[in-house]
Amino acid sequence: MDEATVTIFVCVSCRRSLGDAEESFDQPGRGLVETLQARLRDRGQANVTVTPVDCLAVCKRPCTVALAGADKWTYLIGDLDPCSHAEEIVSAALSFAASENGIVPWRERPASFRKGVIARVPPISVSEAVDP
Ligand code: FES
Repeated sequence: MDEATVTIFVCVSCRRSLGDAEESFDQPGRGLVETLQARLRDRGQANVTVTPVDCLAVCKRPCTVALAGADKWTYLIGDLDPCSHAEEIVSAALSFAASENGIVPWRERPASFRKGVIARVPPISVSEAVDP
């Protein structure tokens, strides 16, 4: 199966507290964008793009990313560390790209994604109805 083109949207607006002072914070999404781009480039994975975006409305759980692709469920994931989770994000994005509809089997999901999933949203193309 051909792997679809997918996008990792990374919130670059999140502030991560570095101490008690209100002005003591960093914005880890900014570094995460560069890290992910470099790792994907090293792997030759041109089918996954990394796009920095403003707020994904999960501001209390930085870093926050969304995995999206045509005809795939979109996943919103938070509580990601730009250093320790970068490889897991890449791995999850590649599994997401290889999946038929964006739903990666639970056993194939990295631990950070199992813990950090905030929401999943169906693709606009979903036509099957479920009983409420
Ligand atoms: S500022 Fe990052 S989710 Fe709101």
